[in-house]
Amino acid sequence: MTEAIVLERERGLLTLRFNRPDKKNALTRAMYSRLAEALKQADSDPEINAVLITGSAECFTAGNDIADFVEQPPSDLDSPVFHFMLNLLECRKPVVAAVAGAAVGIGTTLLLHCDLVYVARDARLRMPFVNLGLCPEFGSSLILPRMQGQAKAAELLLLGEGFSGEQAAQWGIATEALSSGAAAVSKARKMALRFDELPAEAVRISKQLMKAPDRELIRQVIEEEGVLFTQRLKSPEAVAALNGFINRH
Ligand code: COA
Repeated sequence: MTEAIVLERERGLLTLRFNRPDKKNALTRAMYSRLAEALKQADSDPEINAVLITGSAECFTAGNDIADFVEQPPSDLDSPVFHFMLNLLECRKPVVAAVAGAAVGIGTTLLLHCDLVYVARDARLRMPFVNLGLCPEFGSSLILPRMQGQAKAAELLLLGEGFSGEQAAQWGIATEALSSGAAAVSKARKMALRFDELPAEAVRISKQLMKAPDRELIRQVIEEEGVLFTQRLKSPEAVAALNGFINRH
C-alpha cells in the first residue's frame, strides 16, 4: 500500500509530503495522526533543522476529507487534526511549505502557521468554511484580520472567496509566488536546506521570539474556534453542504 503521507529525509531536512493524488490529497484522520507524530519527532530530533510540508507539483491539498467530516468528525480537541495543528503551532524548528494547485480549507489555514511559504503563482487557495456551513479554524479568525485588515479578511472568511498564489504573496500569506508548482517546490526545498548552514540554536531562539507574543492568544482562539467548528459539523447547514459535495455526481 502506498503511504498517504510520505516522509523523506535529506540531510537536516524532513519533508512531509501529502500523497493521495486520486482524492486531491484530501486529509484523513490517519493522515493527521501521521503528520502530528512526524512533527513531534522532528521537533525533538537534534539532527533535524527544518521541516518542509508539501503535496505534489500539481496539488497541495483539497483540505479535510469531506467523507471523514461526515463519518468520523473531530469531536473534541483530542482529535488527530488538533494534534497535528497544535504540534505545528508548537514546533520549535522552522517549517516551510511549498504550495501548488489547490490549497483548500486547512490547506490554506495551515500556511498561517508556517515560517516560510512558497506558492505557485497560479495556485488556488480558498477557505470555504461558511460555504460548507462551518466557521474559521486554527486561529485564522484572529490571524487573517490582523494580517490583512477586517475588510479584506471578510472576503476570504465571510464570503469564502478564493485567491491565487500571487495574491497570497501580495497579502503576506506567502513568502514568494513562483512561476510554477515545480518552481515553488524547488525553491522551498532550497530555502529549507539553508537551515543546515545556520546555527540551529540561534534559529530556534529567533523563531521562539517571533511567535511568543501571540502564542497564548492563538491557542485560546484555536480552542474557541474548535468548539464552534465541531458543533457546526453537526448543524443542518453543514450536514446539507457536506452531503451535497459527496452526492454531487
Ligand atoms: N474530501 C474528499 N474527497 C475529495 C475532496 C475532499 N476535500 N476534494 C476532492 N475530493 C475527491 C473528489 O470527490 C474526487 O473523487 P472521485 O474521483 O472519487 O469522485 C477526486 O477527489 C477529484 O476531485 P475533483 O473535484 O474531481 O477535482 P477537481 O480538480 O475538479 O477539483 C478541488 C479540485 C479541490 C477544487 C475540488 O475537489 C474541491 O472543491 N474539493 C472540496 C474542497 C473542500 O471543500 N474541502 C474542505 C474544506 S473545509
